[in-house]
Amino acid sequence: MIGRLNHVAIAVPDLKAATEIYRNTLGAKVSDEVDQPEHGVTTVFIELPNTKIELLGMLGDKSPIAAFLERNPNGGIHHLCYEVPDIKAARDRLTAQGARVLGQGEPKIGAHGKPVLFLHPKDFCGTLVELEEA
Ligand code: CO
Repeated sequence: MIGRLNHVAIAVPDLKAATEIYRNTLGAKVSDEVDQPEHGVTTVFIELPNTKIELLGMLGDKSPIAAFLERNPNGGIHHLCYEVPDIKAARDRLTAQGARVLGQGEPKIGAHGKPVLFLHPKDFCGTLVELEEA
């Protein structure tokens, strides 16, 4: 069912510093910062030949990554995003097997303008999984 690895997301306490590490130290192609107010994060995308890295910085006091950064003050891998051809069909298949979808279970428009869902890490090997319709 799942297809390509769309991106690996890394939550960071200092988005500008993290962007400079990827741009200068690692020599990667990085995007501008984009605020995602409906998701409580600011994102920077790093284009790699075979996938992307999504740097996540906190936006606002109620950012969903605040608790993660409290537990991981230097930052850390936050989620993996896999592509699926039909997100509602994927959700129905997963929930029928007992997997938990976070939030209301309805896809939201994600950072790329496409529908996304998040799956409970306890059901997926301790990893928060994002599904993106692509
Ligand atoms: Co993501």
